[in-house]
Amino acid sequence: MNSDFPEVLAAQPAGICKAARLLSEGQLVAFPTETVYGLGADARSDRAVRAIYAAKGRPANNPLIVHVADLDRAREIAFLGAAAEQLARMFWPGALTLVLPVRPDAGLAAPLMAGLETVAVRVPAHPVAAELLKVFCGPVAAPSANPSGRISPTTAAHVVDGMGGRVAAVLDGGPTEVGLESTILDLSGPGAVLLREGGIPRERIEDAVGPLAAATSPTAAPKAPGQLASHYAPKAAVRLNATKASAGELLLGFGPVAGDVSLSPIGDLDEAARNLFACLHHLDDLDKPIAVAPIPEDGIGRAINDRLRRAAAPRD
Ligand code: TXA
Ligand code: MG
Repeated sequence: MNSDFPEVLAAQPAGICKAARLLSEGQLVAFPTETVYGLGADARSDRAVRAIYAAKGRPANNPLIVHVADLDRAREIAFLGAAAEQLARMFWPGALTLVLPVRPDAGLAAPLMAGLETVAVRVPAHPVAAELLKVFCGPVAAPSANPSGRISPTTAAHVVDGMGGRVAAVLDGGPTEVGLESTILDLSGPGAVLLREGGIPRERIEDAVGPLAAATSPTAAPKAPGQLASHYAPKAAVRLNATKASAGELLLGFGPVAGDVSLSPIGDLDEAARNLFACLHHLDDLDKPIAVAPIPEDGIGRAINDRLRRAAAPRD
């Protein structure tokens, strides 16, 4: 990319067409999904997929999610068993990513699978993402549009701040609705394994397919290689389960703990999920240690706590 800034495209037909054209030219385009903004590239192009890894500084052993327009397109790249078909019908389009055996004739760029025989697939619900996939007419590989290990973006401005000119364009669809990444479920083996808590609470999935196995410890040879302990990290230290700020700290509140800013003054977990990354970006800019109020370990609260624990984890 020649400039220091990406082109910001309005999420209107002309902007979406331009974004699709840039993708077909092998360029990187950030776009809104209902969870977070994705850093998209043509999933069939080795060169374009490698450019994602370079732009994020992402280790090559961390595979990418492939975004497709609908269930039929998913069946073209992966084998869906009975459980996958059922979950796809229930939750797609939506914040659920399924890890599935990849079809040998999928035509996907090898680097995005990072040497695995599986592929992570998702049909996003955001109308701009859906329209982009329709106009582009192909699979789009997209991790969250942040530098590797940093806070995920929930607005176009977060993407511009984090990625600068390493991305050709950003489609601006406003703040994202869910605010946390998708739930990732591995269905490539005999049982269903929860690899990442996310936008769809595990209870809703367990209601459909029964108890989920938990992935092994995130620090020991992770099955989802991106699930390393330190992630979503602001520059400053993060302290959890705080009811008061210590000297020099800023307090991120929830419910009765008011804080300097609050995830949700009324203690609503969906609102807290929606605000989490924007609050962390905001506090990160102030560059002081961050204390965070307790969040109930319930429903989407578990995904919030997962992100907070990783934000607070020791850094390399
Ligand atoms: O909501 C989301 O999932 C967003 C939006 C843009 O779709 N994407 C996202 O991508 O969060 P990323 O790359 O930040 O996280 C994807 C996670 C990584 O931890 C990666 O290791 C895991 O998915 N993953 C991808 N393919 C996998 C596979 N075949 N097996 C196991 N884990 C996989
Ligand atoms: Mg990410």
